[in-house]
Amino acid sequence: MIPLVKPFFPPREELMPELEQIIYSGYVAEGQPVYDFEDKFRAFIGNPNCLALHSGTDALHLAYILAGIQPNDEIISTPMTAEPTNTSIAMVGGKVVWGDVNPNNGLLDPNSVRELITEKTKAIVLVHYAGMVCNMDEFNKISKKFNIPIIEDAAHSLGSKYNGKQTGCNSAYTIFSLQAIKHMTTVDGGFLAMNNSDQMDRARRMRWFGLDKKRSRLENDIIEVGFKYAMNNVNATIGLVQMRHIEEVISKYINNGKFYDKELLGVDGVKLVDYCPNTEASYWLYTMKVEDRENFMKSMEAAGILASPLHHRSDTHSIFNSSKRNLPGMEEWYNHFVHIPCGWWVSEEDRQMIVDTIKKGW
Ligand SMILES: Cc1ncc(COP(=O)(O)O)c(C=O)c1O
Repeated sequence: MIPLVKPFFPPREELMPELEQIIYSGYVAEGQPVYDFEDKFRAFIGNPNCLALHSGTDALHLAYILAGIQPNDEIISTPMTAEPTNTSIAMVGGKVVWGDVNPNNGLLDPNSVRELITEKTKAIVLVHYAGMVCNMDEFNKISKKFNIPIIEDAAHSLGSKYNGKQTGCNSAYTIFSLQAIKHMTTVDGGFLAMNNSDQMDRARRMRWFGLDKKRSRLENDIIEVGFKYAMNNVNATIGLVQMRHIEEVISKYINNGKFYDKELLGVDGVKLVDYCPNTEASYWLYTMKVEDRENFMKSMEAAGILASPLHHRSDTHSIFNSSKRNLPGMEEWYNHFVHIPCGWWVSEEDRQMIVDTIKKGW
């Protein structure tokens, strides 16, 4: 069965000696490998203000705190995401306000967001779902007009671009996940990127209980509660080795995605997504809409191909009952969207076979 997701790890001969070296080095907590990994990641993204963390969820939690979210502040978000985007809003006491999605791509719809803005709106979270980038042209206008910061959840979209610039340089805060199945994994890990350096020291303290790592424990004074969100040297060492492969790995996702965009255009029963202006997707999952999804998935499975929707819509969880509202775009999208395998493990023969199988009908 060709899977939908699969972790990429560099060859054993390359990774294992470096891992072994760090594990027995006597220093496995946050140290130089973490700072070296941060430097490499900053260079890749093109943003010097990136901090390594233990997970993407940690990065989201910190982003909401740094954005100044207070209990009962409203944050406009999308149900078309993994749970942490929205559970971390609840962690800071914020109220999730569900924007509707564009039924042609599952991404937050700027028109819906505009209608939801109130005095209580303190942030807009954009999830670049499955590697597609949200309509940044429109969201930047909204952010400017209402003076509301954008937090980009780029857990799915490492390597995607807006106006030719990597995701991670374009908004007040952007978070990345290096969890098991993402474009790049360090087993677990995350990054928080910010568009200026003002809050870097504060964020650094918050990833380590509120302590300042530059001072000794005895000289430290915690002035704000922090968390244990630091990355350790073991995860960072995996990341350093991964960085040598990242361009090549991401380009495999993108090449396969573009192949499907071309080959599946106009195929009966398939509707391709609308990509937003001035964006370049990084195709973490290839996403499209199909008629009769149940039978589509069955016929793909019979051919040895895993096809399915991945995430459960977040607005159905009981903790968000008070945010419930009618989302017609989401209904339409949610009933038809599906993913097909597209990542680094999908060979040219595989992708051709996948296209041929779809073209046969279901
Ligand atoms: C859209 C989205 N946001 C945030 C996260 C949280 O990342 P992590 O698992 O690294 O905490 C994930 C993934 O797992 C995700 O898919």
